[in-house]
Amino acid sequence: MKVSVLGAAGGIGQPLSLLLKLQLPAGSELSLYDVAPFTPGVAVDLSHIPTDVKVAGFVGDDLEAAMQGAEIVVIPAGVPRKPGMTRDDLFNMNAGIVKKLVGAGARACPNACFAIVTNPVNSTVPIAAETLKAAGVHDRRKVFGVTTLDVIRANTFVAEIAGKSTADVDVNVIGGHSGVTILPLLSSVPGVRLEQADIEKLTPRIQEAGTEVVEAKAGAGSATLSMAQAATRFTLSLVSALGGKSVTECCYVQTGDDPTSYFAQPVVLGKNGVESIPELPALSDYEQKLLGELRGVLDGNISKGIEFANAEE
Ligand code: LMR
Repeated sequence: MKVSVLGAAGGIGQPLSLLLKLQLPAGSELSLYDVAPFTPGVAVDLSHIPTDVKVAGFVGDDLEAAMQGAEIVVIPAGVPRKPGMTRDDLFNMNAGIVKKLVGAGARACPNACFAIVTNPVNSTVPIAAETLKAAGVHDRRKVFGVTTLDVIRANTFVAEIAGKSTADVDVNVIGGHSGVTILPLLSSVPGVRLEQADIEKLTPRIQEAGTEVVEAKAGAGSATLSMAQAATRFTLSLVSALGGKSVTECCYVQTGDDPTSYFAQPVVLGKNGVESIPELPALSDYEQKLLGELRGVLDGNISKGIEFANAEE
């Protein structure tokens, strides 16, 4: 399996590349690309770790070379938030980056799975899909927004409040990946019964957890380490799935024939990417209300991405 990481020398890219070097199956290849001139150095550094994963580093014009033959392309490239900014405020800086990287991927590895971490994910995933469509290589089963960070945060916070091990908590988080579009399904966590008061406290905490990190880092960026762990988990699930083992992960995908139908929810991944999208569990009245409120925001984020991707240059 060849995995390319685009933005590999950045705050998320470096720990993500380290975790993948340590955890990809033996015989895998890890290809690192970034605009930072020291990216080949990051690859050399990682290559000294004794695992059976080959690492190569690429920079500058070697973007397509970095993705040649890749089965999975993970994209954390882009600019992070500062305090006071929403993820949508990153649109003008990051939309073009995603379009360029995915455009190169369409030429270098048109059959790859594209896992987008770059914010605003609600918009950058439609941008990636439209870019692949324009190149004639779009397969909606293979374009993902990585929303795993919302899941691992929800697992951590619920485990704390329920006095359980995080290993025994598995929260589904649906919707999108920003503010009110993040909807953790706390009324149906297997093996955990939360009071409604706790649900109403935890839901906004999970929705604003990214902002909690941005504020704590006080201008030095957003979540990098937890995001790297989340993206690693998602990438390893994709690796298993492409290898023939069905795996379920919450992620942000096109859920139907309607090209604007992006939504994060539990998705069964298989050897061609999205294998099936199971029915959602029953939602509580509170969750139904939040679902009703998030749809308009998400639709706006999706249209913005689609319009950007299809605008004349
Ligand atoms: C996160 O959820 O931490 C990331 O999306 C980064 C951010 O800007 O919040």
